[in-house]
Parts: sequence; structure tokens; C-alpha cells
Amino acid sequence: MRTYYCGQIDENLTGNDVKLAGWVHRRRDHGGVIFVDLRDREGIVQVVFNPENKASFSLADELRNEYVIEVSGKVRLRPEGMINPNMPTGKIEVVADQLTICNKAKTPPFQIDEYQTVSEEVRLRYRYIDLRRPECQARLRFRSDMNRTIRVYMHEHGFSEIETPILTKATPEGARDYLVPSRNHLGHFYALPQSPQLFKQLLMISGMDRYYQIARCFRDEDLRADRQPEFTQLDVEASFVDEQQIQTLMEGLIRHLFQELLQVDLGDFPRMSYQQAMLRYGSDRPDLRNPLELVDVAKFVKAVEFKVFAQPANDPGSRVVALRLPKGCELSRKELDDYADYVKKFGAKGLAYIKVVDRSKGIEGLQSPILKFLTAEVVEAILQHTQAETGDVIFFGADKATIVNEAMGALRVKLGIDRNLLTSQWCPVWIVDFPMFEKLHGRWQALHHPFTAPRVGSTDELLAEPGKVLSRAYDVVLNGYELGGGSIRISNPDLQRAVFKLLGINEQQAQEKFGFLLDALQYGCPPHGGIAFGLDRIAMLMTDTTAIRDVIAFPKTQTATCLLTSAPSTVDPAQLLELGLKLRKLD
Ligand code: AMO
Ligand code: AMP
Repeated sequence: MRTYYCGQIDENLTGNDVKLAGWVHRRRDHGGVIFVDLRDREGIVQVVFNPENKASFSLADELRNEYVIEVSGKVRLRPEGMINPNMPTGKIEVVADQLTICNKAKTPPFQIDEYQTVSEEVRLRYRYIDLRRPECQARLRFRSDMNRTIRVYMHEHGFSEIETPILTKATPEGARDYLVPSRNHLGHFYALPQSPQLFKQLLMISGMDRYYQIARCFRDEDLRADRQPEFTQLDVEASFVDEQQIQTLMEGLIRHLFQELLQVDLGDFPRMSYQQAMLRYGSDRPDLRNPLELVDVAKFVKAVEFKVFAQPANDPGSRVVALRLPKGCELSRKELDDYADYVKKFGAKGLAYIKVVDRSKGIEGLQSPILKFLTAEVVEAILQHTQAETGDVIFFGADKATIVNEAMGALRVKLGIDRNLLTSQWCPVWIVDFPMFEKLHGRWQALHHPFTAPRVGSTDELLAEPGKVLSRAYDVVLNGYELGGGSIRISNPDLQRAVFKLLGINEQQAQEKFGFLLDALQYGCPPHGGIAFGLDRIAMLMTDTTAIRDVIAFPKTQTATCLLTSAPSTVDPAQLLELGLKLRKLD
């Protein structure tokens, strides 16, 4: 049908006959001559229809935006003055001799280059039109290149690509499961995998040694810009490896991707402990492009009369932190109030601050609503500790540690963006030394998943003080996003049982849910470990967008619906009957 793509034609083809096919991007009538901008995946070229060629000219007159056509014609240089330097094909045009209309098109709900004027709802409803936009196409092709690069790298490093079931049993990754009712076994359900975690461990037990998969995962959880109910992981597992080997290998992959696809050298990834990350950034996925840091000042305010500070300063589960913003004195009263409102969204009760108008004047040079509650010595100690300088503002957060971390961590991120503080384009970091468990509502929860190996010599050591035990887990963080996470796994059935027990999963439940794993662990399990990366997130960051929807061909909305197909939708009563299901109203 075609001899060239529209976007490939340039002055070197002048005088050549070409056949093109694509969509009418725009049609213009210019005093008896019709110009059509013809678009395909490679770009746009101008096609000229002259009235001398009666048949094709009158057909061209019928053309409207988004009609699908085939054209043959001759490439010629555009006349002087008609050259368009903004178009890669702007020096030439194609003079048509034959035109075929393959299909007409209704007036589209939005013009391809005017998508910004329509809501995202309309764009998702007509996603096939939205995807005609060059930037959408470029992102999908980027993903395709990314997958190819990953596959080559993984194969070069001895990994085999193996598929694991989609209709399966629940794997706990912290979200709700999507369930699929079984027709053959009424009242029984498959779960869609939250990740291939247990299957990849079984593959290690079966001796596959090095596995990877570009795997679809399903999680019914609250959605955000970087979360979809179904998403894609690069899932990896290897036997007889330690955390260092996995990290070296996977850091190598991420570096390779950036080098190959963006010509960016990420360099070596630094390592930071979970504890450091929480203390300095209030988050286990710190954006290290942002130079602001939280500084603990509890030790200075234990005895002050300001209860807001003194009380958390004396409570081991709380924090009092300072966040110094250079040049923060420029902030208006309104801006300060807005930041106070902002931290309240994260549960903070307020946002105390001190403006350092003139550092040389001591307490006289400060402005703050809380000075009256603090002594000059305390203020001086805080200023020294935070290395405050003239022009800075020091913000304070005082509350339960979780609230301070969330609120002041978020404030730090926001100030970094609002005040244009980011120092570089890319900042990867490994977060390591995670605690094995955290206590939520009086119960131990695994910080990663329950198959992660604890850093203990024996089960007794684990049980003695579970809150103090570190795990063999690691996360990769890039620019404040968790790109991936993994761990060395438990390969001993007794230790696995002990962890289940600590998590409040009794013998019977453990057997019901994970009996197959506990069995398998008894038949010769190699030490093993792995990692999974969120490919959508990597593609999002690498293509410089802020929502993973942009790098997914057919994404779902924040409420997990597909506007294009209207999924989820009701089903035929006969189908329900066949599955032994009956709907009832929820109270
Ligand atoms: P984890 O649950 O940390 O680990 O997931 C790994 C990575 O997957 C991405 N991710 C998501 N991306 C988009 N939408 C979501 N809803 C979503 N949830 C997670 C993140 C995350 O870092 N089985 C373990 C891995 C292992 O231990 O090997 C696991 O799934 O980028
Ligand atoms: P108050 O005495 O409650 O009016 O608070 C005095 C200042 O402390 C105000 O600027 C509040 O925004 C701020 N503040 C109140 N509670 C907290 C808190 N938990 N952490 C940080 N600042 C707070």
C-alpha cells in the first residue's frame, strides 16, 4: 500500500513517485488548490491536490479531518516562501495524482492537536483517538523499546523468561485481591496475582536458578497518579545470591536503560538506611534532588513551656523536627498560612515557624509567633543546630512520629518544587536496612511481605525482639518514586512458620493460604532472592510525565473504571446463575 511513511519524506526524494497512507490531519482550500496534511505514525507531510487532476481534486474536496486515505504522487521542493522550518518535512510537498478514501470519519470529539481543551474523561472515552497524538505514540513506543532492552539485558545475564498463572491464589502484597468466581467449583474463587511472588520462589525450588518476567499484577487499592489497579512489573528472582549481587545486577539494568534510551549516565546508586531516610526526609522514598532536610530538635525543647513541643519531645513515639528553608523570609504571611493548611492535610495540628530576619542580632533579629514560649538559649541552640542564616525560615513539626514524617516530609517535597530547589535531574538511591516488622493497631505487620528473610541467626532471635529485627529487603528509589523493591527470601520452612505466627497467621490459616509454599520449602530450597520493578513508573519517569496513565495504552481512572469499554459492568443473570452467585444490596 505505501512506499514511505509520511514523516520519512525529505528533499532527497525530490522527483520520486511515492505512495502514502494515513489520516487527514488538516485540509485547507487555497484558491483552487487543496492542501492536505497527511499524518501517520512517523509524522506529517503536505499533499497538494491541483484542479487539473479532476478526479482526485473533487475527491479531495470531500476530505475531512481524520478520514483515512491512500495517496500516490510526486515529491517536489516547496516553492520559496512556502517552506515551513517547524516541520521535519517542511521543505517538500507531495503533488497527488491518485487518491483513495479508505474510510470516512465522524467529526472527532476533539482535534488531535487541541486535546488540552478537553477533559481527561473525554480523552479516555475516545482513547483510540487520543493515542493518535504523537507524544502518546512516542511513549508507547518508548515502552516497547524499554521492554526489548530489558529482555536483552536479562538474557545476557543468564535469566529465562517464564510465565506464571493469572488465575491463581491470593499473594499478600498489602492490597485487596481481585477475585474471579469459578464455574467448575461453585463457591470457590481464583485471585488475580498481586505479584508472581510465590511462583517465582517455587521456580527457584525447581532449580530454574534465574527467572524474570514482564508480569501483569492486579491490586485493588486506593489509586493515585502513580498507581493503577493493573500494572506491569519486571519481576526477577535468582538462586544462590545475596543482596549485593541482586543490587549490582539490577542497578546495572536501570543504568543500562537510562544509557541506552536517554543517553543519561546515572552513575553508582548511593545506599541509605531506612532509619536515615525517615529521620532526614520523613519518607522511605526520599527525593534526593531536593536539598532540604528535617533535623531533630527534641533534645532542645524537652523543658520548654510550649506544650506543643515539650510533650512530643518527651515521648519516644513522637518527634519534634525543624526544616530550614533558605531565603524563606521572602514568604508572605499568606504563603505561610497556605503551608500550614497544607500540612494539616497530613494530620499536623499546625506549622510553627521562625523567620531569621537578621542572624547577627540574636533573638532581636527573629520573627515568630512561638518566640514567647521559648527561651533565648533554646532558640539559639536550634538556630545553631539547623545552621540558620539571615533570610531563612525554620519550620517546625511536633507530633507522633508518623504524623511528623508524613506532614513535614510532604512539606519538604512541596517547598522543593514551589521554591525551585531541585539540584539535579536524576537522583537514584537504594534504601536498605528496613525493619522486618512494624506494629499497626497492636499487631505486627511485615514491612515488605512475609516471605522476606529477617537478618537473624535463629528463630529464637527473631521472636526475642521482633521490633528490633532488620530484614534483608531493599528498595530502589528515583526522584521520590519507589521504582522497585525486593529481598532475600526465607528458605527455611520453620523460620517461615515462625514469621507467619508472629504476623498473627495461625497454623491452620498458614496451611490453607500458603501450604503449597511450606510444603515446597521442605523439598530442597536454595537460598534465593529477587526484586520487582514497576515498569509503568520507570516509563513515566523516563518519558517525563507525572501520571502512569500516560504510559499505559488503555488505563483506568482513579475509581478503577475503563471509560472506553465501561468496565466494570453488570453481567447477564444467566452468567451469575452459572457461577452460583446472587447479588445483594450492601447495607
Ligand atoms: P512491591 O509490592 O514493592 O513488591 O511492588 C514492586 C513495584 O511495583 C510497583 N507497583 C505499582 N505500580 C503501579 N501501580 C501499582 N498499584 C503498584 N504497586 C506496586 C512499584 C513497586 O516498587 N513481590 C514483590 C517484589 C519482590 O519482593 O521481589 C512486590 O510485588 O514500583
Ligand atoms: P498555638 O499556640 O496552638 O496557636 O500554636 C502556636 C504556633 O504553633 C502556631 O503557629 C501553630 O501553627 C503551631 N503549631 C501548633 N501545633 C503544632 C504542631 N503539632 N507542630 C508544629 N507546629 C504547631
